[in-house]
Amino acid sequence: MSAASPACRIRGAVLRPLRDRAGFTLMPDAILDVDAQGRIASIGPAAEGEPLPETEPGALWMPGFVDAHVHYPQTRMVGSASGPLLDWLEKTTFPEEARFADRAYAEAVAEDFCAALVAQGTTAAAIFGSPHPGATDVLFAALDRWGLRALAGMTLMDRGAPPPNLLAAGPALQACAALIARWHGHDGGRLSFCVTPRFAIACTPELLAGAAALVQRHDLPMQTHLSENAAEIAYTMELFPDSADYLGVYADHGLLGPRALFAHGIHLSDGEWGRLAASGAALAHCPDSNFFLGSGAMRLAHARRLGIRVGLGTDVGGGRSFSVRRCAARAYDAALLVGEPVNAESLLWQATRGGALALGQGDRIGLLEPGFDADLVAVDRPEAASTDALWDALLFRLDFGPVRQARVRGRVLSAPTSC
Ligand code: GUN
Ligand code: ZN
Repeated sequence: MSAASPACRIRGAVLRPLRDRAGFTLMPDAILDVDAQGRIASIGPAAEGEPLPETEPGALWMPGFVDAHVHYPQTRMVGSASGPLLDWLEKTTFPEEARFADRAYAEAVAEDFCAALVAQGTTAAAIFGSPHPGATDVLFAALDRWGLRALAGMTLMDRGAPPPNLLAAGPALQACAALIARWHGHDGGRLSFCVTPRFAIACTPELLAGAAALVQRHDLPMQTHLSENAAEIAYTMELFPDSADYLGVYADHGLLGPRALFAHGIHLSDGEWGRLAASGAALAHCPDSNFFLGSGAMRLAHARRLGIRVGLGTDVGGGRSFSVRRCAARAYDAALLVGEPVNAESLLWQATRGGALALGQGDRIGLLEPGFDADLVAVDRPEAASTDALWDALLFRLDFGPVRQARVRGRVLSAPTSC
């Protein structure tokens, strides 16, 4: 799927994120023009007497939600209460992910996964694929057909799980090279290959170093898990006794840098926080998963103060919903818990513009400005007496349904007619 989007014109209330500060401006009645390449050509207040009717009456347009951390092969195990983390992986996650050796199963789930993202208004995501090369190829093909924007990778793991989940470093890195050749940069950069070592526990030093070599050779993004759970951290340090701490394991294998996106980061020491910030790496904050697996609460305000780029991750299936919006509401709860409250407006920004920056795509998405790709959603506009009441209503009325519409490069996302 690489057809150019038709030029179109949208009228309605629009929430425009600020470029580098966690806030929005509200345009009560705007016209947004999209060019034939799917980029925003212009945006401004509707002129008096403008004849164009509202595109989605009663809706509010805003940038598409960005899921900074989600697992495709966990789509069918959402809500499995078998945590904490290491038990949950062993009892539920690894058996489910083993099923992705079967291409037909992988294809069926890839459709469900893309449909779930689109329904919740996620237009871009950083996705952990399956440990199986075939299923990861299937995932890319589905993302392509659905028109979604994504960073995605084959989940690398060569130890610490049953044999059906593992692939040795040599063949795994070869499979990545083939997937990179096929998918990286596809459709003008809509799809990117992301090097995806699962976490240090599941990767030998050889595999971590090979993953770093791929990042370097092809100038790729990298995603993994970091400092999620106490037992995980203890076991990591047993496996890598020569590294100073968990972040040090990744740094020692060449995986710490500005293209890195680390999920969780709950139990970081001051030293790790400092080195993370200095490296320019980003964090995916996954509060719903952190609550459900009993992992703890990440210090979002602290990360912001250090200037770390932070996106919000549903972390399905550790998280219980594909909704980045609900995830943002959970981030509010987590911030209260660590004694550093954050407001709803800033969380909506984190869910959109913040995610774009965390994915390294801040120069093309997450802003509704001329030249940016028209990745947009239309959500129901709640009744609200003030803008502060609007942010709160958008975030905390958790009974909201799916979004009305989601678009990437101006094109409405919907189930592809053939696959
Ligand atoms: N750490 C290693 N694998 C996973 C996973 O699939 N989910 C979460 N939440 N943490 C992990
Ligand atoms: Zn995860």
